Amino acid sequence: GGADGGGAGRGSFPAVRPRRLRRTAALRRLVAEVRVDPAQLVLPLFVREGLAAPRPVESLPGVLQHTRDSVRKAAAEAAAAGLGGVMLYGVPERRDPAGSAGADPDGVLNVAIADVRAEVGDDLVVMSDLCLDEFTSHGHCGLLAPGGDVDNDATLGAYAAMARAQAAAGADLLGASGMMDGQVGAVRAALDAAGHADTGVLAYACKYASAFYGPFRDAVESTLVGDRRTYQQDPANAVESLREVRLDVAEGADIVMVKPALPYLDVLAAVRAEVAVPVAAYQVSGEYAMVEAAAARGWIDRDAAIVESLTSIARAGADILLTYWALPAAHLLRR
Ligand code: PBG
Repeated sequence: GGADGGGAGRGSFPAVRPRRLRRTAALRRLVAEVRVDPAQLVLPLFVREGLAAPRPVESLPGVLQHTRDSVRKAAAEAAAAGLGGVMLYGVPERRDPAGSAGADPDGVLNVAIADVRAEVGDDLVVMSDLCLDEFTSHGHCGLLAPGGDVDNDATLGAYAAMARAQAAAGADLLGASGMMDGQVGAVRAALDAAGHADTGVLAYACKYASAFYGPFRDAVESTLVGDRRTYQQDPANAVESLREVRLDVAEGADIVMVKPALPYLDVLAAVRAEVAVPVAAYQVSGEYAMVEAAAARGWIDRDAAIVESLTSIARAGADILLTYWALPAAHLLRR
């Protein structure tokens, strides 16, 4: 009602009523500022060497460690659902200090890339994790110097070798996620020199040292002791992320990513305003697990939380969204 006691005539207050555009679902749909399309979604998939059957990841309900066979099927399902792509992670049976299985054409990840590529052709963008942590016995994202520190420049050579192997296996985009300085430039140069000029680099440009990666480390059976704070970013820093994305774009990144997503929407918005390349955001394992755990107790509406969180990540500036909910989200977003 208006200030005059409820009349709708001239001079009634408030004259401007934002609620008019919220009255029906049709009006709300008409004026929605962002829409998430399934083609923007990327599904991370784990393939575990030596598995006889897919194995559930306890801290990520609904997520599996795949076999060589089941990862092909999962990728086909992703293509059929109209997703944008898949991001492949390999979990090897054996690890060594140099992470040598990462660059081995017969290594679990490289075999999976080739299998998935053969399965989906060009219908789906095939991305692969370009990092050493799943392959090293110590679980760090790089090679260790004798004192135990991660040796940045020695690691770049290992990334270059992995990049050549992943490109040869047929990946479209390599997810450079190790947070070594110069990694994008080293990978770009290695790809170009090996005749893989068409293979792109998705740079994990802004990757924070985050507690929200916990369940992922279960999924890849991480052996890490300690943390990654000497190479991943301090959660206190946002300006630093602008420096990171400028460097990565200058080194040839085709896409830059912010990770995690929901706790870092300010960073995402600042990055979107900063660069002229597509921006991706990674809704990480802990973001997923929190909602799944609360929903399992009846404390939160899972489907609504999925749609709201993805919409918020897109609103903040993400063009591409990596999420373990990509399949159910594609279904929910089409409603
Ligand atoms: C490391 C890597 C991590 C994730 C993807 N690649 C994090 C880490 O262990 O530091 C996290 C993804 C997630 O939590 O969903 N190569």
